[in-house]
Amino acid sequence: MSDPFLFSCPFLRLIWRIGLYSVLVTASVANMAQENFDRITVESFGTLDDGKAVQLFSLKNRSGMTVEIIDLGGIIVSLEVADAEGVFADVTSGFDIPQTYAEGAGYMGAIIGRFANRISGGKFSIDGVQYSLAQNNGDNSIHGGLTGYDKKIWNTEYSTDLNEARLVLTTVSPDGEEGYPGRVDVTVVYTLNDKNQLVIDYSATTDKATVINLTNHAYFNLDGHGAGSILNHEIRINADRYTPVDSTSIPTGAIEDVSGTPLDFRIAKAIGEDIESSHQQIQFGSGFDHNFIINHASPEALTLAAEAYSPKSGRVMNVYTDQPGVQFYTGNFLNGSLVGKERAVYDSREAFCLETQHFPDSPNRPNFPSTVLRPGDRLETRTIFEFLTRRARGSL
Ligand code: BGC
Repeated sequence: MSDPFLFSCPFLRLIWRIGLYSVLVTASVANMAQENFDRITVESFGTLDDGKAVQLFSLKNRSGMTVEIIDLGGIIVSLEVADAEGVFADVTSGFDIPQTYAEGAGYMGAIIGRFANRISGGKFSIDGVQYSLAQNNGDNSIHGGLTGYDKKIWNTEYSTDLNEARLVLTTVSPDGEEGYPGRVDVTVVYTLNDKNQLVIDYSATTDKATVINLTNHAYFNLDGHGAGSILNHEIRINADRYTPVDSTSIPTGAIEDVSGTPLDFRIAKAIGEDIESSHQQIQFGSGFDHNFIINHASPEALTLAAEAYSPKSGRVMNVYTDQPGVQFYTGNFLNGSLVGKERAVYDSREAFCLETQHFPDSPNRPNFPSTVLRPGDRLETRTIFEFLTRRARGSL
């Protein structure tokens, strides 16, 4: 910056420069002080009954948003964000005890693989060869089988940048694991940035043709994880169509319009508005438990798939993804039987999930986007959970 010409006197010019420099120095010291927080810390999360140690990684951003993730299942155990008044709360369901997760606590917060959601009859074929999976949901297979990716201890590495914290989780899923063909190398990267976005990048390769469908199964309550019903939350889902299911939640193969059904969330509405509908789909799902086909401007473009808003707290969560679908599940099968962190009790419809994914049972549905991964190809997919607030009550 040039000195004002008024200061033609050398003495005044000197005073001006000293003033200017001290402002600059103060600003950069303040900036350093602002950066002076740990974007990632690591501590023990206890041990499993078999003696395996579980590590907890806390990712923090400049505005104080904090996400805690464990190496068991890459599980998000807490996610603290501010409400419209600046008050922080943990908006995701979870547990204090690692063994609860290991025993399969509704897959809360976990990375799901090798195949998220259901596969009909626990069977599928690739190139004429049939594969059989554990039938762990009635006759169907769900969420990767008995010991899915949610129960593995993942390898971890972490790093920080000027504007973000990054946790890299890797694992190898051996050939034949849970009945799936091919050794699959999986990487999941969680990045927390200063825009209050939790970015999840998934990638995978295989040495034999296989099927794969990865997601995160976090349960949310934007009023706080133990705050009760989510029926007041307003949801908008950017989907004109969905995949209707049979009574066992397996897609019929049809692709139907949401218009005129309780599944029409194209304009935001309260979850409670149509959840007791007598519509057959709502009866089959015991509420909302459906895969919505996201309106992508172009295939695989990162798109706003859904927005959730609680008029009570003013918290908003936007979900962006390049995946073709999102499973909107309203926690219909939660039953208060598990004691959560801070002794919270999670009863039916006290949390919801927005699981970005390929369509359920895709391996048996040639008309759905393919979930086959072949040697030499790499699966790459991104989902972003973004948090903001809106003070005034109103629809999205
Ligand atoms: C499914 C639900 C299931 C839940 C927990 C969701 O992805 O759609 O039907 O109850 O996961 O397994």
